[in-house]
Amino acid sequence: MRRKRPGPQAGARATIVRQAQVEDAGVVHSLLLEFNGEALPPEALACRMRQTSQLETALLAEQEGHAAGLLVLRIVPTISGAQDWAEITEMYVRPAFRRQGTGSALIRAAEELCRAHGCIELNLLVDPENLEAQAFYGASGFCRDSWGMLRRI
Ligand SMILES: CC(C)(COP(=O)(O)OP(=O)(O)OC[C@H]1O[C@@H](n2cnc3c(N)ncnc32)[C@H](O)[C@@H]1OP(=O)(O)O)[C@@H](O)C(=O)NCCC(=O)NCCS
Repeated sequence: MRRKRPGPQAGARATIVRQAQVEDAGVVHSLLLEFNGEALPPEALACRMRQTSQLETALLAEQEGHAAGLLVLRIVPTISGAQDWAEITEMYVRPAFRRQGTGSALIRAAEELCRAHGCIELNLLVDPENLEAQAFYGASGFCRDSWGMLRRI
């Protein structure tokens, strides 16, 4: 999963996307904290990564060994259809690495995993006010579907 962006940015550094391991809990923690403003402490996160390893995959984008972005992909069995349900639950690229194809590389890696699991759709929720993310997802081939709703319990 190695990508060098073609065209005018041909000199740009290569982005590598790899599956995060439990040992990467520290860097996953930093990225989630930057994105969400909160994150489980690294030790607790490592524990959750172990517990959810069959259901959730954290993909790390790196440039020259530096963590550039994170995508968390949830693939779960469902009784609603023959295929598993695939959903992006976290998507974040550090500001210094944006508009260089980093997010696109993460999406492509997620798609590969989805195909390998036989999934036929990739779902996600996006804040209605997050127009930049919507533009990114639109450029990545996503289209608007149902509205998300939430009730705190
Ligand atoms: C949204 C985000 C993941 C995009 O990552 P990225 O690495 O910059 O994306 P890419 O470089 O692969 O962009 C691919 C294309 O998407 C579109 N795009 C990306 N960011 C965009 C923006 N801010 N405004 C408009 N279009 C955008 C462009 O068409 C872009 O191609 P181009 O650069 O050749 O014009 C990144 O901006 C981010 O992490 N934002 C903050 C977190 C967030 O909102 N996450 C989504 C939560 S649902």
